[in-house]
Amino acid sequence: MLKILVCVSGGGTNLQAIIDAVENKQITNTEIVGVISNNANAYALERAKNHNIKAVCVSPKDYADRSLFNDALLETVDSFAPDLVVLAGFLVAIPEKMVQKYPYKIINIHPSLIPSFCGVGYYGLKVHEKALERGVKITGATVHFVDEGTDTGLIIMQKAVSVEDGDTPKELQQRVMEQAEWVILPRVIDLIANDKVNVLDGKVVIMK
Ligand code: GAR
Repeated sequence: MLKILVCVSGGGTNLQAIIDAVENKQITNTEIVGVISNNANAYALERAKNHNIKAVCVSPKDYADRSLFNDALLETVDSFAPDLVVLAGFLVAIPEKMVQKYPYKIINIHPSLIPSFCGVGYYGLKVHEKALERGVKITGATVHFVDEGTDTGLIIMQKAVSVEDGDTPKELQQRVMEQAEWVILPRVIDLIANDKVNVLDGKVVIMK
């Protein structure tokens, strides 16, 4: 059984997609052992509680400085003893110490086709605003391993989504979530839980 810990900051629709996929067995061999939010008001915390999943808040507001917050975050992560940490809309830079302690054991969902529209400052709705400003016709989502950089880790899976004429950032965000994020994030977790994700020559290979 792969023990996963899901980290969230907001609405938690990706968390919900994971919960649903575990419950309807689209994700197998997996147990959600907990949810961590950096934001006490995140609706994602309610979603976890509704499904009897242990949910805790670790907020930077409760610590005197970033390094104390980072220590508390890592301690909380460790307390769940996860096999995989899933960043599902977690808008916090992962401390280097945590990346080093969990090599290839942290994955993130990003709402664009990396390496487009990613890196520092590209999160949530902003990603879609920038994509629309640039006039792209295709966007999508990426699931990648987390390394020390921002959105620079090895790409595991991507899915493309069309931009439609007249899209608002919100409309585009919703389409990218429905058609890509809620599909590929559960899919990747299932593949990892079933030992199908390997790293070969610095690239991710999905075993058939
Ligand atoms: C999702 O669109 C996710 O891809 C994005 O935040 C949103 C969270 O929504 N993450 C990033 O932008 C990370 N750089 P959710 O709370 O409803 O899952």
